[in-house]
Amino acid sequence: MLSMLRETCEISINKERLIHDLNAISRIGLGDHGAVTRLVFSVKELRARQLLIHLMNHAGLKVHVDRIGNIFGRLNGANSKAPAVLAGSHLDTVVQGGKFDGPVGVIGALEAVRTLRENNVVFAHPLEVVCFVGEESSRFGFSTLGSSLVAGEVKLEDLANAVDAHGTKLEDVLSSMGIYRHNLTSLKRDPASIKAYLELHIEQGPILEAKAKKIGLVTSIAAPTRLKVVFAGQADHSGTTPMEMRKDALVAAARFISYVEDVCLEFSHMDKGRVVGTVGALKIEPGVINAIPGKAELSVDIRSISAESKDQVAKLIIEQAREIAQRRNISVDILPIRNELPVALDEGLLLLIEEGCKRKGIPYEIMPSGAGHDAMQMAKITRAGMIFVPSRRGISHNPLEWTEPEDICLGSQLLMETIVRLANED
Ligand code: GLV
Ligand code: MN
Ligand code: MN
Repeated sequence: MLSMLRETCEISINKERLIHDLNAISRIGLGDHGAVTRLVFSVKELRARQLLIHLMNHAGLKVHVDRIGNIFGRLNGANSKAPAVLAGSHLDTVVQGGKFDGPVGVIGALEAVRTLRENNVVFAHPLEVVCFVGEESSRFGFSTLGSSLVAGEVKLEDLANAVDAHGTKLEDVLSSMGIYRHNLTSLKRDPASIKAYLELHIEQGPILEAKAKKIGLVTSIAAPTRLKVVFAGQADHSGTTPMEMRKDALVAAARFISYVEDVCLEFSHMDKGRVVGTVGALKIEPGVINAIPGKAELSVDIRSISAESKDQVAKLIIEQAREIAQRRNISVDILPIRNELPVALDEGLLLLIEEGCKRKGIPYEIMPSGAGHDAMQMAKITRAGMIFVPSRRGISHNPLEWTEPEDICLGSQLLMETIVRLANED
């Protein structure tokens, strides 16, 4: 075992190939100013998945695509019946995002596994590189779709309110692919077939850079509570309707948005279990200069590592929406999209990755994740661990997202070494 480990540490991933493939993925959906847009189930996102399948085939992996489009590229070890070590992330993006959120974990895992294959490294458990569908909530407000289905974590009622900006329902997109409510459960993977799940990801925050650390070891993930709030007043003439007679849905929404910020600022300290809240999408009707807005539809995204604080804030936000509507004599509908519990990742895996950092003298930080990840779903059916690499100025979900190629390669190398250790563990 020791000699095997020593040998693996001497094997190096192919840095040029990793960065080359990452760049190839990021050219799909590339727009102005370096922005990348590959919304789930869009043509661009499907093309990125096709490219990945090609790369996996080329690397000699056995590819399996499940009904929703999650991709698994498998390399068997000495015992093909043993549970597999999975590593991956996602290829879909937000609107006008960056190149790294997701693909670093998928291509970083592919590079790790193909390096092991090329070097004939001996391991017992099978390895699988994974790409989950629809990690981002940008299209439907519903995040980690593919990994939630694999973990058996999708509730039927969760899907009902998921609609994109063009009015297309997530349920309709799924049924067009033959996925109906009654067979959602068939995508669940048998937990006995998985030994562990590892995800390499950019930090998407400023901590590693500020502390001059190269690697983040993730303890827990702040899962979101998401709502759709719809204020319905009355559209009316903007010139003739006296101010005191208006039922302006957008003014109600404006008061509500301010409240979301105020209440989250009150919960901004760690001793209160820090909560962040965002209204990131707003749709108004009729949306013209000379009519009072009759309808305002907003998205609310509330996150915290503390389930208790998150629930408290969500309750206050819902109460406030009702109060505002009542005061203005308009109506409000509050539609839950998803309410998830924060997730603790596996301590044993964290220690294993930490050992790898210590062995190589890599400066690391043990930290929670404010962003959501597929690992938070996989943690419900297996041991899950995450490796973060630094994000320049902490910027993410933005074309300016940047991680140094050297840091990405270091993350992939550490991932490879962790995979080998796990794949040889009893
Ligand atoms: C995923 O990027 C998220 O929204 O946390
Ligand atoms: Mn993201
Ligand atoms: Mn991501």
